[in-house]
Amino acid sequence: MSRVLSGIQPSGSQHIGHLVGALENFTRLQGEGEAFYMIADWHALTSKYESVEEIWPATLELTATFLAAGLDPDRATLFVQSLVKEHAELHLLLSMVTPLSWLERVPTYKEKLQNAVADLGSYGFLGYPLLQTADIIIYKAHKVPVGEDQLFHLELAREVVRRFNFLYQREVFPEPEAVLTKAAKVPGLDGRKMSKSYGNCIYLRDTNAAILEKCTRQMASDPARLRRTDPGNPEICPVFEFHKLFSDAETVALVASECRQAGIGCFDCKKRVAEALTRRIEPIREKIESHLGHPGDIEAVLRDGSARARAVAAETMADVRDAMKLPVL
Ligand code: TRP
Ligand code: SF4
Repeated sequence: MSRVLSGIQPSGSQHIGHLVGALENFTRLQGEGEAFYMIADWHALTSKYESVEEIWPATLELTATFLAAGLDPDRATLFVQSLVKEHAELHLLLSMVTPLSWLERVPTYKEKLQNAVADLGSYGFLGYPLLQTADIIIYKAHKVPVGEDQLFHLELAREVVRRFNFLYQREVFPEPEAVLTKAAKVPGLDGRKMSKSYGNCIYLRDTNAAILEKCTRQMASDPARLRRTDPGNPEICPVFEFHKLFSDAETVALVASECRQAGIGCFDCKKRVAEALTRRIEPIREKIESHLGHPGDIEAVLRDGSARARAVAAETMADVRDAMKLPVL
């Protein structure tokens, strides 16, 4: 049976870009094989080692978001990385066979090293993609739903798999493949990519009032349309991007023609986007808040999922130790 694995770092609230980009893909794939979805709290520590108190609350919130977005603990294994210590053992063993240069040349490494707020000059941060490799291959996963920014990490995982299987002359691990989302990217309020660091996000926990405020006051529109009577060009307007992603076909067609004839004003157009977003976000927000009201239930989901994950990881580690001639006493 084909296995799916993906992970998200517990660092801050999830936004509508995560919903369309990752969570909807996760939900779709949980029906197509055996799915494992991990909260990567060790990965979060590579940058948040000075604010460790934030990680567990973010883990609970991310789990609540998983559940609210439609992940079903009976169909997917939801678990916490640090509760499956076998990942650390495999990471250590992989570190013996991975050339240092493979990690140093990962493009995200130098880039993040230079731009980060925290000092990332640690041993753990260099090993970040190798720990990610361990996360994936310890479940012998075939498919890994991720964003484009993770493709180099997946390429490294495949190289490490080939090297391991070659060194120990057996097919312990399959080569994992990235599954990219089909959905178009969600722009941020300013038209750039939606990202917490740009402060341009609509969060899944935003209230209806906050959504309306962000759409009507902060969302960028066609900059050439200065007066209400000027015709606009929806093709270059971020608001129209949101309509295409979240409004019904009728509204999209209406906006496309009315904007060009100055028949609709930008304020009204943005209000309609806010309505469409609210219809999508409100039920999810309510579910997130309701799950967060029962942290004991969230913990039970994670405890159970982590135990299931551990059983699979332990099986793989028996193969790995055997391949590497480590003793069983
Ligand atoms: N690096 C991923 C990210 O930042 C998170 C992650 C950790 C992950 N382990 C993983 C993703 C394993 C896929 C598979 O998004
Ligand atoms: Fe953009 Fe809508 Fe204004 Fe046209 S009417 S420029 S699509 S906000």
